[in-house]
Amino acid sequence: PLPERFVVPLTTPPVKRPTARDGTATRYTVVQRPAQVEILPGVLTDVWGYDGLFPGPTLRARRGERVVVTHHNDLPVPTVVHLHGGHTPAASDGFPTDLVLPAGPAATSRTGHGGMPHGAGDVRRGTREHVYPGDQPAATLWYHDHRMDFTAPQVWRGLAGFHLVSDDVEDALPLPHGERDVPLMIMDRSFGADGELRYPSLDASLAGPPGVSADHTSGVLGDVLLVNGRPWPVLAVAAARYRLRLLNASNARRYDLALDPVPPQGPAFVQVASDGGLLAAPVAHDHVPLAPAERYEVLVDFGAYPVGTEVTLTNALGTGPTDAVMRFRVVRRAREDSTVPARLAAVPTLRPRRDAPRRTWRFARGRTGTGHWLINDALFDPARTDATVRLGDIEVWRFASDLHHPVHVHLAPFQVLSRGGRDPGAFDVGWKDTLDLRPGEHADVAVRFPAHPGRYLVHCHNLEHEDMGMMATFATVA
Ligand code: C2O
Ligand code: CU
Repeated sequence: PLPERFVVPLTTPPVKRPTARDGTATRYTVVQRPAQVEILPGVLTDVWGYDGLFPGPTLRARRGERVVVTHHNDLPVPTVVHLHGGHTPAASDGFPTDLVLPAGPAATSRTGHGGMPHGAGDVRRGTREHVYPGDQPAATLWYHDHRMDFTAPQVWRGLAGFHLVSDDVEDALPLPHGERDVPLMIMDRSFGADGELRYPSLDASLAGPPGVSADHTSGVLGDVLLVNGRPWPVLAVAAARYRLRLLNASNARRYDLALDPVPPQGPAFVQVASDGGLLAAPVAHDHVPLAPAERYEVLVDFGAYPVGTEVTLTNALGTGPTDAVMRFRVVRRAREDSTVPARLAAVPTLRPRRDAPRRTWRFARGRTGTGHWLINDALFDPARTDATVRLGDIEVWRFASDLHHPVHVHLAPFQVLSRGGRDPGAFDVGWKDTLDLRPGEHADVAVRFPAHPGRYLVHCHNLEHEDMGMMATFATVA
């Protein structure tokens, strides 16, 4: 039976403490390991966690602070970690074949989809150091596994955590902070009778072959909604304004979030940031759609509700148990020390030149029966470069789509120029790194990669699509 909704208290992942800090860098050590954690009340579930936690510990960094994270792999399978939204040098970005093999005896030697060898990867044993220069504005980033062909089952087992960047611009704003600044990692999972995570892998050992059973090729959904690893939690809040950092860390589920009841006055949500950081100015919304890997940071004013009100965060795209995500209980009056600033941050507009390089990335299923998801009719090949981009150039990229695909670009965020041939929508403002394409839709975005030569990914962030080949490589050159 499913756990009762809105009884388990929300928790937030612990903030990771550095192992060392010197003049040049802040250093962290993360151990990827199996663990048993309480997700469902009173039940222990086997997970794979960063430091054995689900979600992993939250890393906090300042803009310009050089962060070095050493990851140890004490899991039985290869892994590779990616900082989603990070402006990261290629060697640290977590290319899917830059594997860290288990420190202990390994379970694997296998080939990719289509019989391709893994090839072309920088493979290590046991450990890898990731350097994050932090040369980017305040933003809600997250880190997760990115192993070739196995990202979906490995994230499902728990390999995901927050990485929050702050800066002086954000600090100078009168936004809610401290306890009133809450990261919410939303995901769906399924559980077996003994509380074990259920995922339809073809091979449960994740040694090979990769993939999911045929009825799950459009993406794996769970019937239990988790926030920060707790099922349908409840959070006691003061009657005051809160900043909610919404992240959809689900493999394939999309949400459309709203508040029930709606506040007696004022908008339900005031958006202050998108994937890549603060907006130029706040935007009011009465709902927030959230595709896999997207982040929307919103202010919710619980001061608009009488004390005692239960406010449910509903999901219009769900039915039955998935029609709501969590609940807020307004428990006490409180002093309000935040305001909604009229201006947030300077967001320079990327203006592509008339003769700017243009590329199209078409996301579509392969011919029926192949069970593959393709970009420009091709399956991902880690040894192939699909595009070469000059650092500093502003390019126009067109994303086109057959069905729903949340398109993600590594290394730098982009700005939406148009969607479906029309002006960008209300949710497209600011710096995006993931854009949810609707069926049959195309969108044009302006993108510029200011630094870091190397090879990077553009891919669908439906993790099952990603594992089935819906990725491509671009190279950045000086
Ligand atoms: Cu969130 Cu290529 O990943
Ligand atoms: Cu997709």
